[in-house]
Amino acid sequence: MKKNDLVKIAIDAKKKALPQFSKFHVGAALLTNDGKIFTGANIENSSYGLTLCAERLAVFKALHDGERNFKKIAIAADSENYISPCGACRQIMIEFCGPELEVIMINSKGKHKTVKMKDLLPYSFDKEFLNNE
Ligand code: THU
Repeated sequence: MKKNDLVKIAIDAKKKALPQFSKFHVGAALLTNDGKIFTGANIENSSYGLTLCAERLAVFKALHDGERNFKKIAIAADSENYISPCGACRQIMIEFCGPELEVIMINSKGKHKTVKMKDLLPYSFDKEFLNNE
C-alpha cells in the first residue's frame, strides 16, 4: 500500500462524515500491519460532547474486528493547515496503535505531512501507570 493510496482513501472517507453542526468534514484511513484498511469519518449529534472523531471511529472499527497491529493512519479535512488530531484521539491512537504509528495529516489541497505518533503525544499516560496486577 503506497502512502498516496491511503491518502486518497482518507479523502474519500470524508464524504461519509455527519458534521451537521460544525460543517467540518474529516475522514480517516487506518492501515494494519497486514494490509487491511479501516475507514472513519466524524459523526456529530445534538449533544455536542458525544461527537465521535474520524480517527477514533476508524480505530474502534479495527479493534472490534480483532485487529491489534497498525502501521499508518491518514487523516483528511478541508482545512488550509494539515489536520491535527484532537487530544482524545491522540490518547486512543497512542494506546491502541502505538508510538511508532505514522500519522499522515492531509490538508484541503490533498498535500500532506507525516509525523510519528510519539511526536504528537510525548510523555503520554498509559497502562504502565496503573499498578493493578
Ligand atoms: N474532528 C475529527 O473528526 N478529527 C480531528 O482530527 C479533529 C476534529 C471533528 C470533530 C468535530 O466533528 C469536527 O471535527 C469539529 O471539531
